[in-house]
Amino acid sequence: MRAIVFDQPGDESVLRVATVEPPVMAPHALRIRVQATAVNRADLLQRQGLYPPPPGVSPLLGLECAGEVVEVGREVTGWQVGARAMALLSGGGYAEQVVVDAGAVMPVPSAISDEEAGAIPETFITAFLNIFLLGKPPDKGRVLVHGGGSGVGTAATSLCKEAGLTVLVTAGSDEKCARCLQHGADVAINYHTEEFAPRVLAATQGKGVDVILDCVGGRYLGANVKCLTMGGALIVIGLTGGTRGELDLATLLRRRLRLEGSTLRARSAVEKAAIVNSFIERFGEALKSGRVRPVVDRILPLAQAAEGHRVLKASEHFGKVVLRVN
Ligand SMILES: NC(=O)c1ccc[n+]([C@@H]2O[C@H](COP(=O)([O-])OP(=O)(O)OC[C@H]3O[C@@H](n4cnc5c(N)ncnc54)[C@H](OP(=O)(O)O)[C@@H]3O)[C@@H](O)[C@H]2O)c1
Repeated sequence: MRAIVFDQPGDESVLRVATVEPPVMAPHALRIRVQATAVNRADLLQRQGLYPPPPGVSPLLGLECAGEVVEVGREVTGWQVGARAMALLSGGGYAEQVVVDAGAVMPVPSAISDEEAGAIPETFITAFLNIFLLGKPPDKGRVLVHGGGSGVGTAATSLCKEAGLTVLVTAGSDEKCARCLQHGADVAINYHTEEFAPRVLAATQGKGVDVILDCVGGRYLGANVKCLTMGGALIVIGLTGGTRGELDLATLLRRRLRLEGSTLRARSAVEKAAIVNSFIERFGEALKSGRVRPVVDRILPLAQAAEGHRVLKASEHFGKVVLRVN
């Protein structure tokens, strides 16, 4: 099968199309003929040699895909050959076929195209897990999402608005802030020109937010804690702003705050299946009706994966960069 490979870690120019062996089938898995996959920030890190795949996982890039089921493992029930499917992957999406544990696969609603579906699993499940399962915002609560224009950030905004929450986001330009507002965010803060903590407190009448979805880490720790309301949760999912920061534990105690770090990729198949199930229970109807769908910035052919990586590196995108495979 055709896939994107790289021989040595490096910049996006190391990516090339090659012919590789298709993945080996397993009894609890589905084989999917991939129609679309999407670029995630983690792919750039993996390509640079900074985020190796977990043991036993495909060395190919690609954390999500959508396509058609072409083979059903003998222990799998509820799936038929020919069904449209989208899957959360630990790797291997930049290829014509994947084999994935059936628990990580979701049906694609007819309102959603293959290209949109290929951009759903990694970002929507990340946003769902971290905001809803870990952050646990109250009804009508307030959520701050850093990187509101990212794949994860646009998914987070969609899910939070669908759930009736107030969403505040940060983004790196006035243009991206305007797009975040169009996409449903209630407040958008340009992190290059404004300090976000005073804006968050002003916009919430000094109360702060219930949950922060943070992809920045160390550099934002102090300001994030300032933004949290009593009982609030800071969920750290990325460390673009470094791994260290200073935390005033007295504030943590006084306001009974929670601080949690989380990764999705390295979780067990059982954990992923449980998360995927709760996602479908909570938002399956909204996906089916097309009320919730990903923001697709652009669609490139698989062979232009390097261009997709360049776009993410330069932060030229709003939402997802999709790769069309077949
Ligand atoms: N832990 C997990 O399980 C998990 C899973 C998936 C993703 N992630 C993380 O989630 C983040 C988003 O992933 P993605 O694939 O959606 O990436 P992406 O589309 O490439 O977005 C990266 C985002 O980071 C934003 N950003 C960079 N510096 C910032 C700062 N100082 N303040 C606020 N925002 C800042 C950028 O904002 P501008 O473009 O507006 O400057 C951009 O929107 C990444 O950090 C990724 O590693 C974690």
